[in-house]
Amino acid sequence: MSSSSVSKRFFSVSILAVVTLQLPFIQSVLSLNQTNAYLQHVCIKSDGTYKSESSYESSVKVILDFIGADLDYGFGSGSVGSNGSAIYAKFQCRGDTSESKCRSCLTTAFSGIRRLCHNNKRRIIWYDNCILDLSSIYTYGEIDNKHIFYLYNAKDVNGDTKSFNKNTRALLYKLKEKASRKEQKPYRKDYMYAAGEESLGKMKLYAMVQCTQDLSVKNCSVCLDGIMAKLPRCCNGKQGGRVLNPNCNFRYELTLLYKLKRLSNESSKKKDIPLEN
Ligand SMILES: *[C@@H]1O[C@H](CO)[C@@H](O)[C@H](O)[C@H]1NC(C)=O
Ligand SMILES: *[C@@H]1O[C@H](CO)[C@@H](O)[C@H](O)[C@H]1NC(C)=O
Ligand SMILES: *[C@@H]1O[C@H](CO)[C@@H](O)[C@H](O)[C@H]1NC(C)=O
Ligand SMILES: *[C@@H]1O[C@H](CO)[C@@H](O)[C@H](O)[C@H]1NC(C)=O
Repeated sequence: MSSSSVSKRFFSVSILAVVTLQLPFIQSVLSLNQTNAYLQHVCIKSDGTYKSESSYESSVKVILDFIGADLDYGFGSGSVGSNGSAIYAKFQCRGDTSESKCRSCLTTAFSGIRRLCHNNKRRIIWYDNCILDLSSIYTYGEIDNKHIFYLYNAKDVNGDTKSFNKNTRALLYKLKEKASRKEQKPYRKDYMYAAGEESLGKMKLYAMVQCTQDLSVKNCSVCLDGIMAKLPRCCNGKQGGRVLNPNCNFRYELTLLYKLKRLSNESSKKKDIPLEN
């Protein structure tokens, strides 16, 4: 495992209980071979702990089984219990993840978070293909700016860094607009997800952005603006980088990092029908 190829840092707004771990060799997730690398987790101590592991985790499992039963659009949420003893779960897969990979990411995430966050009620884990957020408080639709981290490709771009940064920002901004446009249908894998590319001379820049589907499209835009503001700090002049919080994330690289959609010809392509509120 190479730690020299990738570095990471955290920035914290408040006291972040983010555990520092070496990032798995990120180059391996840049290709189409999705290896579903573990990215990060956070165990939030301020939200308390549970006493009985077996009963708590089996309640969590009830929700996750429920979520896992229907992942055809890559998002699920649920809760058990009420008042002081409620447990909420939110799960989002990356927009280009197949349903079976999404389901296996849920299994991986649950076993990962159990192992890494012993008896914390609030805990979040990020993988390349999914995010699992477990909580004792209702966070549906809210933007969490406290738990944010970034990863970057250790390689610097050759040449004009300023113009590269500018192009990166422009592509991410374009994708943000796409991911947060009003006229898109929910209950689809690519709801509030956008991926695209841009030619930079001989090179190609690839990027993706995504929000968890509990956010409103408006808040998706707010969330992405928030993490995109970290771009200079995260990824200045780097060939690749990503910023993630529990509700949205972006990534860019000079290598293909998302699955290409099946090419469909214009005439057979279904038009998105604007939603009426
Ligand atoms: C994907 O993984 C397989 C098996 O691990 C390997 O043979 C193949 O070369 C990889 N493809 C890419 C594009 O990395
Ligand atoms: C929740 O708490 C309130 C106030 O303490 C109580 O009136 C209510 O019955 C509780 N609900 C459940 C489902 O336990
Ligand atoms: C947007 O996010 C804010 C802050 O998290 C939240 O209070 C608000 O309810 C959200 N608005 C919508 C329409 O979901
Ligand atoms: C495009 O799709 C239409 C309708 O499905 C089909 O009739 C046509 O042959 C397709 N054109 C090409 C170039 O594949």
